[in-house]
Amino acid sequence: MGILSTSLGIGATFGGLYALRRWRENQWESCKTNRRLDGQVAIITGATSGLGKVLAEDLVNRGAAVVLACRNTTAAKEVAAKIKQQCPEALLDVVELDLSSLESVRKCANILLERYPQINILINNAGVSIPPKMGIKTVEGYEINFGVNHLGHFLLTNLLVDRLIASTPSRIVIVSSKLHEQGSMDWEGFEGTKEFEGGKRGPNAAYCSSKLANVYFGIKLAEKLESRGVSVYTVCPGWNYTKLFRYSSVPFYSWIAIIPIAFWFMKPARIGVQTLIHCAVSEDTENETGLFYRDCKVYQSQANLNTKTINELWELSCKLCKIEW
Ligand SMILES: NC(=O)c1ccc[n+]([C@@H]2O[C@H](COP(=O)([O-])OP(=O)(O)OC[C@H]3O[C@@H](n4cnc5c(N)ncnc54)[C@H](OP(=O)(O)O)[C@@H]3O)[C@@H](O)[C@H]2O)c1
Repeated sequence: MGILSTSLGIGATFGGLYALRRWRENQWESCKTNRRLDGQVAIITGATSGLGKVLAEDLVNRGAAVVLACRNTTAAKEVAAKIKQQCPEALLDVVELDLSSLESVRKCANILLERYPQINILINNAGVSIPPKMGIKTVEGYEINFGVNHLGHFLLTNLLVDRLIASTPSRIVIVSSKLHEQGSMDWEGFEGTKEFEGGKRGPNAAYCSSKLANVYFGIKLAEKLESRGVSVYTVCPGWNYTKLFRYSSVPFYSWIAIIPIAFWFMKPARIGVQTLIHCAVSEDTENETGLFYRDCKVYQSQANLNTKTINELWELSCKLCKIEW
């Protein structure tokens, strides 16, 4: 009797939690468009896991030819093979891209320009969140979060932008985060000439600042591409169960607080990706550019979007990538 009632109690608790979670998941926004992308070419950076992987599946199912631009090409080929199992007519390609090396970015762009006379959608999705105290730098010696999340994508976009302009109407989606509101421009920290101010502003300071750089890039890029037929969207996917925070160490006791918060606020990637789809595909966003999106809606950033700082970041990025733009 005791075992039976305990088992029933445990079953009812887990069943209730499951139902509550399903209800919660249904509250989050989803992109409703059924739009097809037949004949279009989409490039997604970082599609071996998390949001990029789910987005690749979605765009392939809409008929787009999707290029997985990834650092781990073995993992990317496995992702492509799995998608092909479910969708045998899928058009998929894998191209090596290590955003922490500007040489790799250039090689990737050359391959893409050779293979694809048309590029309609570029999703700057790949990202890392690495505490600055780990002291990891890019191949060229720049701070790793800034280098991968912003600078590598800045160069990739520059190298592909003429092809996107020639393929209009086209779209560029920059995956940022609401955490950009906690970021700041630590110029010397970015360049790697001084340690990033992580100690003072928490272990995610460099990540938040790289995501602010994403927002500044989106604003300036939209301005540069105005009237050229290329729309630019900056996106926060919300808080998702992915591998992003794999380098963050959380003390054991903190899990007691984190688990209930995660239960209520963390999304599976298939839900987090909805705002990316809204910006990459939907008819609703077709005539918009230069805005920030969250939960499939425009979101007003609370960050200081100062024009002078936006221009300074653009100039620094050109200098570090050795380009004029
Ligand atoms: N998850 C969240 O809660 C959350 C919240 C806000 C914003 N975001 C943003 O969402 C985007 C996608 O992240 P995710 O959550 O899906 O994380 P994820 O599962 O860790 O995926 C990140 C992807 O980026 C790739 N990547 C990492 N370093 C790279 C490099 N040097 N060159 C090329 N690719 C590299 C990873 O490839 P490997 O397999 O080779 O590592 C992986 O495919 C990121 O920009 C992130 O900042 C996520």
